[in-house]
Amino acid sequence: MAPDDTLEEVRRAADIVETISSVVPLKKAGAYYRAPCPFHKETNPSFTVNPTTQTFYCFGCQEGGDVFSFYMKYHNLSFGEAVRELAARFAVPLSYKGGKRPKDSKENEEKQRLYELNELAASYYHRSLLQDDQGRPARDYLEKRGIGKEIIREFRLGFAQPGWDNLVNVFKRKGVDLSEAVTAGLLVPGKKTSHYDRFRERIIYPIMDPQNRVMGLGGRVMDETLPKYLNSPETPIYHKGRALYGLHMGLKEGRRAGQLLLVEGYMDLLALNAYGIRNVVASLGTALTREQVRLLKRAGATVVVAFDSDEAGRKAAFRAAPLFFEEDVRATALQFDPGEDPDEYVRRVGREAFLRHLDDAVPIMDFCLNRVLKRDIRSATDKEDILDEIVPLIRSLRGRIQQMEAVASLSRSLQVDDEIVWKAVQGGSKRTDSVSQPVVLQDVSLRTEENTLGFFIRNPQYVAAFLEEELGVQFNSQPIKALFDSLLNLFEEEGSIDVARLVARHSDADSKKIIARLVAGQDEGEEEYAEEIARDLLRAYRLKKILEQEKKLTVRIREAEKNEDCELLLSLLREQKELIAQKTQTMQEDTVYGQVKHG
Ligand code: UTP
Ligand code: MN
Repeated sequence: MAPDDTLEEVRRAADIVETISSVVPLKKAGAYYRAPCPFHKETNPSFTVNPTTQTFYCFGCQEGGDVFSFYMKYHNLSFGEAVRELAARFAVPLSYKGGKRPKDSKENEEKQRLYELNELAASYYHRSLLQDDQGRPARDYLEKRGIGKEIIREFRLGFAQPGWDNLVNVFKRKGVDLSEAVTAGLLVPGKKTSHYDRFRERIIYPIMDPQNRVMGLGGRVMDETLPKYLNSPETPIYHKGRALYGLHMGLKEGRRAGQLLLVEGYMDLLALNAYGIRNVVASLGTALTREQVRLLKRAGATVVVAFDSDEAGRKAAFRAAPLFFEEDVRATALQFDPGEDPDEYVRRVGREAFLRHLDDAVPIMDFCLNRVLKRDIRSATDKEDILDEIVPLIRSLRGRIQQMEAVASLSRSLQVDDEIVWKAVQGGSKRTDSVSQPVVLQDVSLRTEENTLGFFIRNPQYVAAFLEEELGVQFNSQPIKALFDSLLNLFEEEGSIDVARLVARHSDADSKKIIARLVAGQDEGEEEYAEEIARDLLRAYRLKKILEQEKKLTVRIREAEKNEDCELLLSLLREQKELIAQKTQTMQEDTVYGQVKHG
């Protein structure tokens, strides 16, 4: 990671309005900018950017933070990657202490080279496919399946010629370290020869990461020999549990459409794209992982699970359902004719009918319920089996109301009492406990603490008074307390509050989010009544301080009584009297103010 001052330089250079407006259409609204939020589906502009504090915040989905938070989230990058990209974009040279790259650079350099080798291989295979003679069989095969030049170019499809050493020779000519190409999964160490090509006589599908870098390859035979598909093995940059095909384009178009189709196969995605349906991502036939669901979540769209309409596809959709629930991603399921996949379906019915068919997608919970209820239900044991299968799913639903709906629907279909299903859902699950708990008191005080911090962030002119009285607030929430402490420190050091500097002092995403939320979240009437609110807050914390002192004093008084230390007792009682007087006065002021306010 870049050292702090370089980080600050990047932060100063990377103007948040400029950065965000290149991907989100911002409109000026008073001192702020507004837009529909890129992180969740909406038509109202609840997404706000504050140029003064250099923060953004969405009132709809509560996403917020500084320029780095935005860049990371929007482009799905790590913090380091976001800093590097922003530095490059705003022409800030990244210097590292002692002219050295950061500690983790060895690993980064290796990954960088693996990306380069994958890129090299992808572009070699792509050129091969486009070559007049040698590429023809592959182009013909694709043509037959409805994939033309345009899609070939767009997805950089390729062709690995027959033969064992085509890529080996390309790498040799370029002076590539062949053992590194083995690490990249492109070559395989051989017994007779030193290395041979992993992909031979196959159509090549480059698999891109969210930043559109080639992370791995897939390859399909052009007949029905097995294995039909071969993919890159696990490498430092390719993890199949994190890979999604077409992710870059899919997320972008999904965000725009508010709907993201999830298909199983390469060819499903390509066929849909050939029909101009571009909000698609493919899971590559593996069981969907939580990491993949989190990647899909970035589109902020409803995920339409459009797996093959066979037993395997339905099972995969059923298995994926709890992940969507737990990750709070709205998901629906779409079916085709028995045995059909999206590729076959779209080519049979065409674009318009496919788009119309999208309306038939059902919430994935309904899909799951239908699936188990389709079975022959005769005995009580059949019902028990169904409960066993579906109850964990209901448990993983996030909302209480959603749970109740599912319970109602299930008990109706099984013709058993609601209560029985409810008991099963609630039995032995921590998750359900937390869902059914009433709003906890601590949340309320947390709110209050946040409100206090927010007020001072937005109205720093009152921080001085707070400091003067040494109110030393005892916040219960750790992040709020840390933020408040640095707010006070900043004020002591610089005599003013620059929120951008406050953000700079807190690198963790949570703190940034809190600050962004507080900056954006001005209460109604706050501007008009700021002075009164400040007085109110000061009084409340003054009272809190007095009460705490009083509590401690009581303990000491009891001790002095026990020890029969008369002298100490007398002085403590005098202190107590003083405190009580202070308390009464503070409380009365409160009343007077209350009357003024309401009268
Ligand atoms: P499908 O067999 O449904 O593939 O497997 P498909 O894309 O529809 O292929 P076509 O239409 O026969 O050309 C779904 C996905 O599962 C993975 C691939 O990613 C494939 O796209 N798969 C399948 C493999 O990785 N290996 C295999 O042997 C088969
Ligand atoms: Mn298929």
